[in-house]
Amino acid sequence: MTRRPIIAGNWKLNKTVPESIELTEDIKVKLMDYQKEKLPVVVLCPVFTAVQAVSNVLEHGKGIYLGAQNCYWEDNGAYTGEVSVPMLADLCVSYIVIGHSERRQYFSETDEMINKKAKAVLSHGLIPIICCGETLEQREEGITDEFVAGQIRAALKGLSEEEIAKSVIAYEPIWAIGTGKTCDSPEANRVIKMIRDTVAEVSSQDAADKIRILYGGSVKPSTIEEQMGMSDIDGALVGGASLEAESFAQIVKGTMLARTK
Ligand code: PGA
Repeated sequence: MTRRPIIAGNWKLNKTVPESIELTEDIKVKLMDYQKEKLPVVVLCPVFTAVQAVSNVLEHGKGIYLGAQNCYWEDNGAYTGEVSVPMLADLCVSYIVIGHSERRQYFSETDEMINKKAKAVLSHGLIPIICCGETLEQREEGITDEFVAGQIRAALKGLSEEEIAKSVIAYEPIWAIGTGKTCDSPEANRVIKMIRDTVAEVSSQDAADKIRILYGGSVKPSTIEEQMGMSDIDGALVGGASLEAESFAQIVKGTMLARTK
């Protein structure tokens, strides 16, 4: 089963509109040097206020996709401060990150909310990037697998086999996010394989074979080739290293190199 890799840049709360335009243009230029057919799916996730501007710069259908960092599950109504899936679809957003650990931690998002968001994203034909991952304490307690499998079971509840097959999961151990401390590739691969087995158990083997599962947490140009050489890692969700066109392009290039070996 060959799954097309995905490299997604999560810009988090960074970049004004002019800065977002500049970064997008720089990434576009750098990726132009690479062979189109070998490129992974590249996704850029700017802040909401820059989504329209980045959308204008991207030539849709040319390999770079637009993502958002969050969404609400209702289409519209009295929900002050929220942004809905059809509103993002309007701006040509194709992927939406949901349940990032920063949202769970700082904005009290629960597994139930994340499940509602996954359903909303898929019902509008967009693709959710569903995040999961354990804290350092949970890892030290030896409950990583049980905790992460629980997050996945909750997030996928009530989704059809077809919906699960087209979804994306990002395994991001919290202790590796923004710390410079990457999870060892064999260990990241082991947890990702466990996630895939969990998907097979709650859905089907076919959905588990098709779903793309990314690794996230201090991904850098120097780590990506080894990570992409693993059997079950289908790409990366990149934070810090996605804020510079050069390092992000190097990660895309490393992905191509790993896959052509
Ligand atoms: P990082 O962030 O690459 O800066 O560790 C990853 C993420 O939070 O998605």
